[in-house]
Amino acid sequence: MSFPPAIPREFWGHNFDSPVMLASGTAGFGEELLDLQCLSGVGAVVSKAVTFEPRAGNPPPRLLETPFGLLNSIGLANPGVYHVLKHILPVAAGLPCPLLINVAGESVDEFADVVRVLEGSSAHMGYEINVSCPNVAEGGAAFGVDPQVVLRVAQGVSRVTDRPFSVKLTPNGGDMVQSAEAAVEGGASAITVCNTFLGMHINWQDGKSVIKRKVAGYTSPALLPLVVAKVWQVSNAVSVPVISSGGVSRGDDVLQLLAAGAQMVQVGTRLMRRPFAAAELIDEMKKLTGE
Ligand code: SIN
Repeated sequence: MSFPPAIPREFWGHNFDSPVMLASGTAGFGEELLDLQCLSGVGAVVSKAVTFEPRAGNPPPRLLETPFGLLNSIGLANPGVYHVLKHILPVAAGLPCPLLINVAGESVDEFADVVRVLEGSSAHMGYEINVSCPNVAEGGAAFGVDPQVVLRVAQGVSRVTDRPFSVKLTPNGGDMVQSAEAAVEGGASAITVCNTFLGMHINWQDGKSVIKRKVAGYTSPALLPLVVAKVWQVSNAVSVPVISSGGVSRGDDVLQLLAAGAQMVQVGTRLMRRPFAAAELIDEMKKLTGE
């Protein structure tokens, strides 16, 4: 790699308008953003997680803005894979950029079962396999910390699709490098580094967590150095590209993550305040690099 890093425009053998992806859970399936015209500068959209059955998600309160970030405990709320296939993907097919579908499951087999159904659509380029949600009792991060389970999930997905897929790992426990290596052994075409960090907000008056399920996933620009370190560790260990996720609020952050070894960079929490964050990040990067 040369420094400063060039702004990449190619990923998985395709041309992307930019290296900035909208992170899972922050943009639906992208279809709601079409009318808002805020997909300019977006390299790809990663969808909200899809499970086999519909899920209502966790009881509220399940979102809390903190002074420096956001706690979420959504619990993988989604309408289920058949609804997504029939009603959402036909609209999402009109996106001006590639779509990756984030897939979650309560069992090892569920990931492949969901992907098998989604293979009935041509609206998406690939998948992000979510073995890292901190907000569910079954599956989620408990899978991602065990390299043997990560291997079996990735092997199951590889058997049912020829499309590329990234495995999204957890920073909460386990050894992320070992899980990443297992994902690659199972056929993963990229690693997403990483899901949210465990966080909590306790009301000191009554000692109760504000979030109903108590512990939640935390995102914040303050986490950037933690994500940079994990991206650097994983990208030095695996042969497939790394997609970073977390901590981005400035073009400078994106360039730093690229320098750490990421090939694509997801932005999430920033979008809540700045729906045009992707285009803004690209402009900032161009100014910084003179491209
Ligand atoms: C959630 O739905 O609780 C968040 C998804 C995730 O962290 O993977």
